[in-house]
Amino acid sequence: FRIAVLASGRGSNLAALIAARAAGRLPVELVGVFSDRAGAGALEIARAHGIPALALSPKDSADRTAFDESLFSRIAAVQPDLIVCAGYMRLISEAAVRRFAGRMINIHPSLLPKYPGLHTHARAIAAGEREHGASVHYVIPALDAGPVIAQARVPVLDGDTPETLAGRVLEREHPLLVASVRWIAEGRVRQAGAAVALDGRPL
Ligand code: GRF
Repeated sequence: FRIAVLASGRGSNLAALIAARAAGRLPVELVGVFSDRAGAGALEIARAHGIPALALSPKDSADRTAFDESLFSRIAAVQPDLIVCAGYMRLISEAAVRRFAGRMINIHPSLLPKYPGLHTHARAIAAGEREHGASVHYVIPALDAGPVIAQARVPVLDGDTPETLAGRVLEREHPLLVASVRWIAEGRVRQAGAAVALDGRPL
């Protein structure tokens, strides 16, 4: 089962996938790591583990559609069974989402459908939430709105800052993502394709 990872930043979720695989807890092949930022830590982590790593700059493309065309044709070339967005911070064009419909997942740091988008930890604290967490979901054209595969919950504690809360959530993201990818690789996840249209509207 071939996995490609898309990441814009640090890469701790990628590192968790690599570690789980090395420990024999994730029966997949990591066939490529792709980024929109040449300086992404994720690329360094990939290279240190002998995984092909590629960054493309959005500035070299006329628009989002053109950028995604070149990015996702490089991704298609490594023939992934699943694309894992792990801290990939760019919106993905509808054409690319449709091309990989049902074969692309994302990890998002909130209990979806609450807090799609950015600054999830600060927003959860500001709203007085007592509980927060992370979700792994299928990618559909609407941002962070695809069918949820699994979630991890953490308490929001008195005195939490966005940083302390983010740290507590991140600790749970790693096993959540590993488990989700493993379940998909083992064929144990079926997308609720009949219940949700690609644009997120119920059918
Ligand atoms: C994670 O919190 C992920 O949920 C969010 O971006 C962060 C990426 O962290 N989408 P890392 O690059 O995997 O360390």
